[in-house]
Amino acid sequence: AQPWRGVIEEYRDRLPIGPEEPVVTLGEGGTPLVEAPVLSERTGARVWLKVEGANPTGSFKDRGMTTAMSKVAGSPARMVVCASTGNTSASAAAYAARAGLGCAVILPAGKIAAGKLAQAIVHGATLVAVDGNFDDCLRLARALAEDYPVALVNSVNPYRLQGQKTAAFEVVDALGDAPDIHVLPVGNAGNISAYWLGYAEYAGRTTSASMDDAATTLAPVSTRVPRMWGVQAEGAAPFVKGATVEHPETVATAIRIGNPASREHAEAARDESGGRIDAVSDAEILDAQALIASQVGVFVEPASAASVAGLLARAELGEVPANARVVCTVTGNGLKDTATALGRAEVDPDVVAPELPAVVAALGL
Ligand code: F0G
Repeated sequence: AQPWRGVIEEYRDRLPIGPEEPVVTLGEGGTPLVEAPVLSERTGARVWLKVEGANPTGSFKDRGMTTAMSKVAGSPARMVVCASTGNTSASAAAYAARAGLGCAVILPAGKIAAGKLAQAIVHGATLVAVDGNFDDCLRLARALAEDYPVALVNSVNPYRLQGQKTAAFEVVDALGDAPDIHVLPVGNAGNISAYWLGYAEYAGRTTSASMDDAATTLAPVSTRVPRMWGVQAEGAAPFVKGATVEHPETVATAIRIGNPASREHAEAARDESGGRIDAVSDAEILDAQALIASQVGVFVEPASAASVAGLLARAELGEVPANARVVCTVTGNGLKDTATALGRAEVDPDVVAPELPAVVAALGL
């Protein structure tokens, strides 16, 4: 088998990138689908994690950034801009560096995990910290892209969703058909829209986010689509409240968003799939993060654990069908935000003499 070539080459017949267009790739996609026995046991279902932290910059954003940045590389624009809670900026900075483009990132001051900030810096982006939240930053990024020769690479750029839909293709390719339920965290709501787009296209259907291109005329690959279950953080849950949240607050800074840009697409994903969007508390998010780190062996960032927390909450209420096939997307790598992960843990191990008896004693053997 040849090595994985990145999502554009792997799914070219289903993506709106022409044969003559440049491809900006870091080999994104092809991420592990890991079975999670502890979650299967707790839910009575069969549960897998789609581990998106295994992407080149450590989050699912890379799938959409390869398509969005490839389009920019083939356009006159020489600079991109994005608003971000951290992962989009890390990904945009890396792909812009790869493409030789400038990158400006607009961030909510003091609310970005240290690892993500480091990524944007080392990849050479220009950072602007705004005294406001993500929703303010996105408003500013959109206005900037409208008035200046910079290309917007947030998920309101339709090529982002096109790339991100490939995660759904990979799940179907791995399982042989769509799962019964797909669970994922919801912030700005691009990703749930993209998964629904991918599952629908693979089943020969179109959605509100579909592009009028070749992908919609291909033969179906799957026989069905999953129910889409979105999960928000309680303090940042506009879909659950049914209204914009003016001052979103959660430990899961990646999804600290009150006014999601892809609201309509996400509501369509929820309603057309017979799904739901729920909220979980910060405590449930941190418990789920600790559980999957200690018992599944996968270290994810807090926002990612919201999917698992949401699934466990539904199971607790008896709302997960027995033996259902369930995939939870865990969206970002835990290494991006070690401070939050270690917040409740012992950080410094005891220092012992460099002698075997001291090590044996420290281990209690
Ligand atoms: N999980 C992680 C780790 C994220 O970084 C994000 C979004 C989401 C989930 C939610 O995905 O916005 O498509 O609903 N992060 C964006 C950013 C907002 O700027 O990095 P969504």
